[in-house]
Amino acid sequence: MKILSFLNEFSKDQNLNNVILKLCSSAIKISKSIHDDDYEIEKTSLNEDGDVQKPLDIFSDKTLLDKLRIPEVAAYCSEEQKGIVNLDENGNFIVLTDPLDGSSNIEANVSIGTIFSIIPKNGKCVNEAIFQNGNKQACAGFFVFGPRTTLFLTYKNGTHSFFLNNKSNTFELLQKNISIPEYTSEYAINSSYRRFWHKNVLNYIENCLKGKDGPRKKDFNMRWVGSLVADASRIFTRGGIFLYPDDKRKKNKDGRLRLTYEANPISLLVEQAGGKATNGKEDILNLTINDIHQRTPLIFGSKEEVDTFLNTE
Ligand code: F6P
Ligand code: MN
Repeated sequence: MKILSFLNEFSKDQNLNNVILKLCSSAIKISKSIHDDDYEIEKTSLNEDGDVQKPLDIFSDKTLLDKLRIPEVAAYCSEEQKGIVNLDENGNFIVLTDPLDGSSNIEANVSIGTIFSIIPKNGKCVNEAIFQNGNKQACAGFFVFGPRTTLFLTYKNGTHSFFLNNKSNTFELLQKNISIPEYTSEYAINSSYRRFWHKNVLNYIENCLKGKDGPRKKDFNMRWVGSLVADASRIFTRGGIFLYPDDKRKKNKDGRLRLTYEANPISLLVEQAGGKATNGKEDILNLTINDIHQRTPLIFGSKEEVDTFLNTE
């Protein structure tokens, strides 16, 4: 089933559908560029927050912004832009995006992707609509540019996946109503930061490492791609837990990932697929946005495993 038919049948907001379709056409353009172009890998700069910016980050950001100049979109916020970009004041939607997540992996030919979150204005002004919590999102999703180009999408009626049919140049339904398995024995964490971890993270991972002989009474497997979209894609496919907690490093006291561009959209998709997402204290979707670039600890995945993490002292 083509995405257009899917949206027409299941998502009743035509204006929202138009925004989703523009995001799809942006992703097709970005995906082609990643696959076909001889881009300048080495040339890097720094974005507003000091993160390394590559030509493909800038290209992806520009592609999205250009495509989203439609009457439905009131404003655009991106990890690659300093502030809010106001577009059509009569539009009802604000799009927030990480245009190219995992771009440090480009040279290694590892999966990267575009993450997006769509907030409705519903009569509010742009700022008022943005500075609420993640539960106010109308829609969220991410594209993965991997062996296949895929899309994970929710408009708060389940989480669904699509793949890009390169012959017809359209997204087609892969799986309707994805359900993240409740139980798992696979975790994902960058363990090179072990010496900075807080006690609960240290104890949780120690318990996993003890395997069958420890309190968890089962052996665990570990996976860490280093692209949030790729790690999330795996968890939607076969379950697991992802942890990017805050730690004792000064620059990581509020975690590393972005609330608006990464944690909120991933968490809405996770909850809509029956999983759980937390910052270690509260559900991600209950956190108020105070700054469009703010960071947060992020732990998400199979529900029972996230609860086990939360119950570890
Ligand atoms: O966008 C940030 C990001 O690249 C994520 O895609 C990924 O999960 C994380 O950073 C990896 O961080 P680290 O390099 O610290 O393992
Ligand atoms: Mn990212």
